[in-house]
Amino acid sequence: MPGKVDMDKIVSLCKRRGLIFPSSEIYGGLASCWDYGPMGVELKRNVRDAWWKSIVHERDDVVGLDTSIMMHPGVWAASGHIDSFTDPLVECKSCHLRWRADAIEGKGCPKCGGELTEPRMFNLMFKTSMGPVEEEASTIYLRPETAQGIFVNFDNVITTSRKKLPLGIAQIGKSFRNEITTGNFIFRTREFEHMELEYFVKPGTDEEWLNYWVKERFDWYVKLGVRKENLRLRQHGKDELAHYARDCYDIDYLFPMGWSELEGIANRGDFDLIQHAKCSGRELGYYDAEAGEKYVPYVIEPSAGVDRSVLAFLIDAYDEEEVEGEKRTVLHLHPSLAPIKIAVLPLSRNEKLTPLAKEVFNKLCPNFVTDYDDSQSIGRRYRRQDEIGTPFCVTVDFESLEDKQVTIRERDSLAQIRVPIEGLEKVVEAKLKGESFNASPLWATRQK
Ligand code: GAP
Repeated sequence: MPGKVDMDKIVSLCKRRGLIFPSSEIYGGLASCWDYGPMGVELKRNVRDAWWKSIVHERDDVVGLDTSIMMHPGVWAASGHIDSFTDPLVECKSCHLRWRADAIEGKGCPKCGGELTEPRMFNLMFKTSMGPVEEEASTIYLRPETAQGIFVNFDNVITTSRKKLPLGIAQIGKSFRNEITTGNFIFRTREFEHMELEYFVKPGTDEEWLNYWVKERFDWYVKLGVRKENLRLRQHGKDELAHYARDCYDIDYLFPMGWSELEGIANRGDFDLIQHAKCSGRELGYYDAEAGEKYVPYVIEPSAGVDRSVLAFLIDAYDEEEVEGEKRTVLHLHPSLAPIKIAVLPLSRNEKLTPLAKEVFNKLCPNFVTDYDDSQSIGRRYRRQDEIGTPFCVTVDFESLEDKQVTIRERDSLAQIRVPIEGLEKVVEAKLKGESFNASPLWATRQK
């Protein structure tokens, strides 16, 4: 079942409004690579920050980490990625296009119908070499997940953080996968950003913690405005579990191409710590002082993609409405995700209005990401802000010069209120936090 929003409309809005551009566009682009523009970089940063806040800052049982992308090759042998991080690849004997065997329907090439080769297992890790000599011994890999940087630092964190189990270690960073088939805009790319939590628990409590994290993560999307009916939970069948997983749930989102994975929450058991202890020769256990016993913790892993979350938030926020006979495109983004929180729009570029409008901008920008725009008609400027999801616009008009008040317009209801410039920051702060917007009917009709 496809979602209601057309992906082409999202791609076009992202290009038009400076959210996301094709990478290396002036050279014809590079397949599956995308660049975040001035608005996109703010949105992406807000998604990361919202995750970090809820996973690290608002809890006392999780700490953060930032590990290197290139790691000792032994890490990937131990983790099973060298042997098992593979997809079955087939190639068309006529047009030579390559496909993931488990992602195509029918027996022939999806492009030309040609005969396909027998599947062979293709490793998804990008290889490169470290140092000036390119030889077998210098081969290293770009990490395909941030998780392993956490496992190999487990002992460092335990011995330096003075924390007890259950303890989570969180990391956000780039991962790389040489995916056979990419596509659907930023849904599946070869370079992407992971937000991963490895939550270490006492064996026997793992099922309980898995259920806890599935609920926490589902609720995170809902709190940030994603409609519940566009989310669903799906437990993996035994035959689809990753080589390290004992159990796993996907949070699926109804993307334009249908229900697809947004985030996975896996019970990795003690697989990784046992493997790294065996291969590195370092003991990786935990002494539980309260229980007076030593054990290898189990790990619950909520693993999400920043880019895929950005896409889901954009799709869910996207709307086309009719306002007074005119079509408006709007992103109903949660205020904490919106790239710009408030825009200052003088009614026109007029030498009398500009100084006061600049004064209002200078008052707001130390506190909120604020835009200043005085070119083109006020209607066009409102439309631009609606399309990038700016929750509030402040208009400075000729009456403002007399009464030292401005009009705030709310993106979703289009309601307007008139407030004094003095103390404007406090009003904006309260409105961004969700305080009700009691619009005066007078101003709602005056400032169309
Ligand atoms: N450490 C576990 C792990 O990496 P995964 O299910 O392979 O699990 C977790 O990935 C999440 O990372 C996915 O749910 C998705 O949001 C994101 N992700 C994975 N591969 C991706 C790709 N090629 N492009 C964009 N996002 C991707």
